Amino acid sequence: MKKLTGKTAVVTGGGGGIGRAIADAFAAEGCKVALLDHDAALFEQRSASLPPGGGHPYLCDVSDRRQVVRAVDDFAERVGGLDFVVNNAVYFSYSPLAVMTEDVIDRMIDVGLKGTLWTMQAATPHLVARGGGAVVNLSSVAVSFAVRHAAVYSAIKGAIDALTRQQAVELGAQGIRVNALAPGPVSTPGARSVITDEGWEARRSRTPLGRLATAEEVGASAVFLVSEAAASITGVTLKIDAGITVSGP
Ligand SMILES: NC(=O)c1ccc[n+]([C@@H]2O[C@H](COP(=O)([O-])OP(=O)(O)OC[C@H]3O[C@@H](n4cnc5c(N)ncnc54)[C@H](O)[C@@H]3O)[C@@H](O)[C@H]2O)c1
Repeated sequence: MKKLTGKTAVVTGGGGGIGRAIADAFAAEGCKVALLDHDAALFEQRSASLPPGGGHPYLCDVSDRRQVVRAVDDFAERVGGLDFVVNNAVYFSYSPLAVMTEDVIDRMIDVGLKGTLWTMQAATPHLVARGGGAVVNLSSVAVSFAVRHAAVYSAIKGAIDALTRQQAVELGAQGIRVNALAPGPVSTPGARSVITDEGWEARRSRTPLGRLATAEEVGASAVFLVSEAAASITGVTLKIDAGITVSGP
């Protein structure tokens, strides 16, 4: 028996990286998935590779509230309601704060933080109408320790953790669970663009397990958090980091 048969989900940034793996994991468990992504090339690839009837790609920039509302409303109407939301889209940039431009900082906040707020606002009425649901926000281990040149990124992820707790309390009475996943370093196009080869090896060697988590493992954890197996779990941030946050110097 598939774990998410008959369920529906919105995954932001579902065209590539971790979002793609989460969307694939949901679809493999029988869930109908809306993939909201702003990358037209990824969008084309995904449209061709999605399982028949399982995936619904939407060309959508999550920093634009109207685009998000349009995509979420359209998907909920097409599939008859909404059960799950995964807030995953990100704009990566690592630099010392002192030299970061206003444009880059604005874009990071617009995609990583405001994109999550817009998606929650768009999705919540549909989850309430369904009588309950589950949300998974993508946090990071960068909340637990300082990552070189990641001041803005870490600040956004700290806000995502706070938002996760707040929404868990605000929406709990309506049967909506809100949790976060905090991956350690995962090899994706976005993370590869900000971490050098030496940086990956340094990170891997710090983990007690001697390996880094994969996007597919994050996908499996997202399936767990939205599934009935996690029915009593809300307001938590679950680390998937091969133990990097508990390893000493
Ligand atoms: N990869 C890691 O090491 C790592 C570690 C911890 C947390 N995370 C978190 O996991 C999530 C996914 O990261 P990733 O590494 O897969 O990133 P990625 O950059 O590889 O993929 C991000 C996806 O989001 C899409 N996207 C970007 N801006 C968008 C926008 N404005 N609207 C819609 N879609 C947009 C991209 O097109 C892409 O498909 C992020 O929230 C990230 O912070 C990643």
